[in-house]
Amino acid sequence: MKHTIGLIGFGTVGRGICEILLDKKNYLKEKYGFEFVITAVADFAFGNVYNPDGLDIPLMLKQANEKQKFTKDLTDYDNIKLIKNSNCDIICELTYTDLTSGGPAIDHVRAALESGKHIVTSNKGPAALFYPEMKKIADQNNVKFLIEGTVCAGTPVINLTDGPLAGCDISKIRGILNGTTNYMLSEMEKGMAYEEVLKIAQELGYAEADPTGDVEGHDARGKVTILANIVMGAGIKITDVPCRGITKITSEDIENAKAQNKRWKLIGSVEKKDGKVITSVSPEMIDYSHPLAGVMGATNALTFTTDLLGDVTIVGPGAGKIETGFSILTDILSIHRTNGK
Ligand SMILES: NC(=O)c1ccc[n+]([C@@H]2O[C@H](COP(=O)([O-])OP(=O)(O)OC[C@H]3O[C@@H](n4cnc5c(N)ncnc54)[C@H](OP(=O)(O)O)[C@@H]3O)[C@@H](O)[C@H]2O)c1
Repeated sequence: MKHTIGLIGFGTVGRGICEILLDKKNYLKEKYGFEFVITAVADFAFGNVYNPDGLDIPLMLKQANEKQKFTKDLTDYDNIKLIKNSNCDIICELTYTDLTSGGPAIDHVRAALESGKHIVTSNKGPAALFYPEMKKIADQNNVKFLIEGTVCAGTPVINLTDGPLAGCDISKIRGILNGTTNYMLSEMEKGMAYEEVLKIAQELGYAEADPTGDVEGHDARGKVTILANIVMGAGIKITDVPCRGITKITSEDIENAKAQNKRWKLIGSVEKKDGKVITSVSPEMIDYSHPLAGVMGATNALTFTTDLLGDVTIVGPGAGKIETGFSILTDILSIHRTNGK
């Protein structure tokens, strides 16, 4: 089947998935019989474009990389009309994350699912705030709502629990879900103070100008909510997750941990206990011997505690153009390989 793909958001991840699809076009066709055409793109910065026969993606990548607006196949359709009226069978929602309202992404997701189009997204908003509702709409319309990229970018997490770990009872998931804070804690161990490290993280593009979402733990909290609801069926809201970030960690705390052969990590935790699912985000001192302690820099890692395998730890990138673009590819391929079932 030749898939028709639409992208809402043509930023880092939108361009990442386009580059991967163009680079691997022949490989994907030969290996998986996967063929595609990208027919719709909507972006605040570059404009909305539609061509039912396929857009000129190389030109659009060039224009976006040069911060120029699109010039070809422009359409008057707004995002919702484009989603509903386009010939796409898969819509990739790749606009910004809002963990308070879920907007504007939630409107895009709902419109796509209600009009019988699969959704693939790396946007945490709809997944953390509205997963049960969106999954229900997807099921009613016989389409998929796939969100691998919302936790640890393309490092397999959600698909791991649903695929290779299916059949294991997962009683606990603990890990490093935010690369920025892990980078900062790693650098603080080299002797720098919090404020100094934050400035460097901002200069390197790891932390935003307003770093609150990362350093206060809100980003990790969204991911904990997603894991609790999807892997453990907790039915919780993001505000149910107790959350403390790294802003109070001092150089003295770092030295104290070292003296005990431990190091600080911002740990997101989801655990089944006495019939309940207990969640949290908070800095913890982890013993050097634990696999999570060795994960330094902007890397993510999760340890799954299972009944049949014991602990399984996965370590990998939690951000990046190609790394997150891959999460979109893997979910698109899953739709292709299962024929959307
Ligand atoms: N980048 C990563 O490594 C990564 C990793 C995991 C998850 N994610 C998530 O993936 C999503 C995309 O991330 P990104 O890094 O690609 O973000 P980005 O570079 O900021 O790109 C988002 C694009 O969407 C556009 N946009 C915003 N609101 C829109 C709207 N209502 N309609 C149409 N276009 C709109 C933006 O335009 P303006 O710039 O003009 O607003 C921008 O071009 C986010 O939700 C992010 O949290 C990203």
